[in-house]
Amino acid sequence: MEKLYEGKAKILYQTDDPDILLTYYKDDATAFNAQKRGQIVGKGEINCTVSTALFQWLESLGIPTHYIDRPSSREMRVKAIKIIPLEVVVRNIAAGSLCKQTGLKEGKVLPFPLVEFYLKDDALGDPLLTPDRIKVIDIASEEQVNQLRDLALQINQYLQEFFDKCQIILVDFKLEFGVDKTGKIYLGDEISPDTCRLWDKTQEDAQARILDKDRFRRDLGDVETAYQQVQARVLQQIESL
Ligand code: TMP
Ligand code: ASP
Repeated sequence: MEKLYEGKAKILYQTDDPDILLTYYKDDATAFNAQKRGQIVGKGEINCTVSTALFQWLESLGIPTHYIDRPSSREMRVKAIKIIPLEVVVRNIAAGSLCKQTGLKEGKVLPFPLVEFYLKDDALGDPLLTPDRIKVIDIASEEQVNQLRDLALQINQYLQEFFDKCQIILVDFKLEFGVDKTGKIYLGDEISPDTCRLWDKTQEDAQARILDKDRFRRDLGDVETAYQQVQARVLQQIESL
């Protein structure tokens, strides 16, 4: 298969069918725009499994996703959509760059889910956009941006409820979307401990409760165990549905 693109955590291949791509999930982990690099053993398989479960579940609730099927533990076949170069972040609780940039205290419950748009451009360091900046750089129409916001908020509601049943708090997460030839919008990329902040509801300690890539970003240790915990709880919740 022809390799179309190798990203930091996944490789994208063209399949024989022009409308279908294959995503291979790697164990490679990066942070701070790839200034920090490492491996999380088993991550590729876990992120592929968790993303598959969540995409299938969201799809059953009427959210269009790029997911087709999972031919092997680290491979996902997806619809060949054109990715809109925006990273859509939804935050329920203050953490990460929101705290750094605003001084909000980590753990503060936000008065409403905050939706943010970042430009997906590693060379520029994925800057935070404003509505007018989105218009000026013209990467998505106003109507598309409104659709992305509505979809992101709907997905947040579904995922918050889902993770709550897993005894996990959904702090924040990042989504990517794409369009097919007809302009229909699909949820793309992945939903995994790499792209979400997930806190264990059963743990009080501010570091012990972290079940996501912040363990790698902040050198907290036990990264693999945290990822395995998320996978186990997500699969258990899916099975109980
Ligand atoms: P941030 O607080 O660093 O802006 O991250 C917000 C959310 O987005 C968090 O759940 C992690 C996720 N994220 C990614 O998936 N990819 C990225 O490159 C970054 C910076 C954050
Ligand atoms: N994925 C991003 C990177 O390496 C950042 C992150 O997830 O923190 O660069």
